[in-house]
Amino acid sequence: MNSKHWLSYYQQNRQNRPEPKWNSPSPLELSVQHILARSLSHFQLGETGGGTHLLDHACKQVSDDPVYLNALQYFIAEEGEHARLLERLVLRFGGVTIRHHWTHGLFRLVRQALGFQFEIQVLLIAELVGTAYYRLIRARTSDRVLDETCALLLKDEIQHVEFHAHWLGDMLSRLLPFAVSAWRTQFQMLFSAAAIVAWTDHGEALIASGSRRREFFREARKECIRFLHRVQVNADQHVAVFAAA
Ligand SMILES: [Fe+2]
Ligand SMILES: [Fe+2]
Repeated sequence: MNSKHWLSYYQQNRQNRPEPKWNSPSPLELSVQHILARSLSHFQLGETGGGTHLLDHACKQVSDDPVYLNALQYFIAEEGEHARLLERLVLRFGGVTIRHHWTHGLFRLVRQALGFQFEIQVLLIAELVGTAYYRLIRARTSDRVLDETCALLLKDEIQHVEFHAHWLGDMLSRLLPFAVSAWRTQFQMLFSAAAIVAWTDHGEALIASGSRRREFFREARKECIRFLHRVQVNADQHVAVFAAA
């Protein structure tokens, strides 16, 4: 894991971030705006306040890499920035931010159940599903501010997924092939369950913005397949390094 690279990436990514033009009028119908506001408020809740537990787990389980821990703090801060952007969007569409929702409670419960590695995995699954959602609402709506915000979120999330793919690739490179297969299987099962939960919660907003159920699951699967490929590439690179040593 090249932690120094990631620390430097997160430090630089804080600089010169464009701000969406919040005051531009929305061409979307009010009913669509309200449905989107409700859905986005759930994503906004998901982006808030997850850092303490994650860092706590990380300090106990990956304390041998302080640079990674530092990069992880920047990653958490970036998720906090996403919460800010999403809050602006929710308010713009006439919604309110929320403090509790069953999907968030379920997500937090599962995430904190089995230690740092599992927490990263659950977080990552939420990022993959979120990426599919942002891609679709961005592609299907014509709201400039929504487009600018989704562009910012997607640009960061692509790197978040790669950041976790590096760490998980490192972890998988130390396992026997049968254990890697078991890990990949459980990951896909958990991912499929998360995609179903996401559709239950956000299907109305996706439909209101012009997407269909099939499209959402296809987009989500694409994200999952891409991630599994990236984690394998990273694991193979680690194996090649220690095989050559
Ligand atoms: Fe995020
Ligand atoms: Fe993220």
